[in-house]
Amino acid sequence: MVQFALPKNSKIRTGKTWPRPDGKNVRKFQIYRWNPDDGQNPSIDTYFVDMDKCGPMVLDALIKIKDEIDPTLTFRRSCREGICGSCAMNIDGMNRLACIFGLDEVKGDVKIYPLPHMAVVKDLIPDLTHFYAQHAAIMPWLETKTARPAKEWRQSIEDRAKLDGLYECVMCASCSASCPSYWWNSDKYLGPAALLHAYRWVIDSRDEATPERLDALEDPFRVYRCHAILNCTQTCPKGLNPAKAIAELKKMLIARVS
Ligand code: SF4
Ligand code: FES
Repeated sequence: MVQFALPKNSKIRTGKTWPRPDGKNVRKFQIYRWNPDDGQNPSIDTYFVDMDKCGPMVLDALIKIKDEIDPTLTFRRSCREGICGSCAMNIDGMNRLACIFGLDEVKGDVKIYPLPHMAVVKDLIPDLTHFYAQHAAIMPWLETKTARPAKEWRQSIEDRAKLDGLYECVMCASCSASCPSYWWNSDKYLGPAALLHAYRWVIDSRDEATPERLDALEDPFRVYRCHAILNCTQTCPKGLNPAKAIAELKKMLIARVS
């Protein structure tokens, strides 16, 4: 996985250092700050948290900082259990869900940035507008042509099992934001998250739009900008394998022309 570091000529400012509390178990946090309304470049602010009075996860520390030190620190979170996907951020050089990533997994100071290579709304909040539009573009719903059954669309246990490892995606964008191909070509390359969902619907035994779905992916960029770098699979906080899903899509696309 690529480790992220600031270039020497970075325009990021050294930000505010907040007071260090007393205590034997105090940790230092360096957190990216950017307020679009103050006209200044981003900064890295330094905070200190007494870990004897803080929960074990990175999100616990962020909430403690916001509640007790600096209420202007801005980040997304909702479920606090790895389900909503909203707290994805770059922690110690890797894209993680802050609510399920333990502070004991970080050695030394805790460095927290927004997801890399995405526009920032404020502080640790990335702009996911384009990411969601790409998700919508793969038609993330059941497409059918036969008459609607009286009760429900049935699926065998075996066919349902094929969706394991796909349906669990929480749309956190960690994978797409870790992918160099997505960094450079996100205007045309759909990225690992959208493609994992595309594959999830292509192999759903109830779906009847597979040819149309594959037609929509037949393009030099949408799928084939994946060069199997595998950052997506390494970083996925839910343990999913978007790279494998993309490889399966490529096989299906090639099988149509051979
Ligand atoms: S595949 Fe994993 S990293 Fe990518 S959006 Fe889904 S849960 Fe997040
Ligand atoms: S707060 Fe929901 S996944 Fe972290």
